[in-house]
Amino acid sequence: MLSNQANNGGKRTSLHGHWSSRMAFILAVTGSAVGLGNIWKFPYIAGQNGGGAFVLVYLICVVLIGMPVMMSEILIGRRGRRNPVATMALLGKEEGSSQHWKWVGGIGVLAGILILSYYSVIAGWVLAYVVKSASGTFSGASSEVVSSVFAEFTGSWQAVALTHTIFMGLTVLVVARGVERGLEQAVRFMVPALLILMLTLLGYAISSGYFMQGVEFMFTPSWDKLGWDSVLAALGQAFFTLSIGMGAVMAYGAYLPEDTSITGASAAVVAADTGIAMLAGLVIFPLVFANGLSPADGPGLVFQTLPLAFGKMAGGVVFSTVFFVLLSFAAWTSALGLVEPAVAWLVEAFGKTRAQAAVIVGGLIWLIGLGSVLSFNVLADVTFLAGTIFDNIDYLTSNIMLPLGGLLITIFAGWVMCRNSTADELGSSGTLYKIWRLLARVLAPIGILLILINAI
Ligand code: TRP
Repeated sequence: MLSNQANNGGKRTSLHGHWSSRMAFILAVTGSAVGLGNIWKFPYIAGQNGGGAFVLVYLICVVLIGMPVMMSEILIGRRGRRNPVATMALLGKEEGSSQHWKWVGGIGVLAGILILSYYSVIAGWVLAYVVKSASGTFSGASSEVVSSVFAEFTGSWQAVALTHTIFMGLTVLVVARGVERGLEQAVRFMVPALLILMLTLLGYAISSGYFMQGVEFMFTPSWDKLGWDSVLAALGQAFFTLSIGMGAVMAYGAYLPEDTSITGASAAVVAADTGIAMLAGLVIFPLVFANGLSPADGPGLVFQTLPLAFGKMAGGVVFSTVFFVLLSFAAWTSALGLVEPAVAWLVEAFGKTRAQAAVIVGGLIWLIGLGSVLSFNVLADVTFLAGTIFDNIDYLTSNIMLPLGGLLITIFAGWVMCRNSTADELGSSGTLYKIWRLLARVLAPIGILLILINAI
């Protein structure tokens, strides 16, 4: 996927090569964006925060804050052409500010490690559900059976630790071998296939008789339920689902050819990612109501609703297995994005090989992940601040580290970098550029700050 012949008319080139095409870049960023955040996290967070009003705030955050932050990350990455830590240090000096901007890259490296530590645990659940689906566990199963299968599985720390280990192993393997053609092919196939399966499920949700109840829950805002903590959760989810605020998109942007439109690529990724999240909500909520479940059920929501639908469908065993396989792929392409800043940094700053870097970073993440493994069983009752260890890592990363990273990134792109530099990267001084600059300089930073201050 990365080609080594970079022809950039005298501009900087990346050590790691460049994407072979505009499409390769869009697919890689879409692969990182579309993941558990869309199908597992979005429905349960929306459910816990009362539905409609949360979804509306989330959509506003995606468009007015997420989009300009994503464009800022890509343009910074492409200009620096190094890992996020080195890129921020380099551009900080180059733009007449300070090399201390490297800390923004540093926070990102750490955020990626922390996010993957629990992301891998949930991805492990998905792997387990591939096997459960294929062996017919959910055929014709009642809501009680499906819920108890979930409780029994997550209640066993050995089972969860095993699948977490397998998922981290798979991630390290691919990262070690370098970003290959295989990944590009996987994404090219996975996103459309996932879309088709979601549409099939949508058909089922519509026929469930509870579709309008689901739609109403998702799109009728009841503002009285929306506190600042829910607004922060919506902002955090916008950052999480778009993979922004931690330098992952910046790292991918470093391999982007000079002539690709950053605005166009960002718009494509944002549209695909948001579309899949909305679709997931429209599938899950009707099923929640049709089966007397609660939308506020938390991280188990998807694992307790989708198997029910599959269990009642003709050919459900096949559909269900294929679905969880696709979701594993989606999680896996996201995992690669989560470690890329840390791996690129170890390679560039400490002269490690990709394989060494992958093993070091992967081992560390696996170890931290044990905290989340135990959060659903042995240590389920050990709660502090935001809840279990899993809850705390999730809260710290999504609601604090990513928005903070995004804030600093837009301030950097909007205020530290001079107009010529950003206009050069975004390729025009037309209306689109003016809108981006207004959002990146004023609206996005003020919006993020307001939400952070009010919620904390
Ligand atoms: N966007 C991913 C998802 O929705 C999760 C994620 C957050 C991510 N930050 C990232 C993936 C950075 C890759 C890189 O599942």
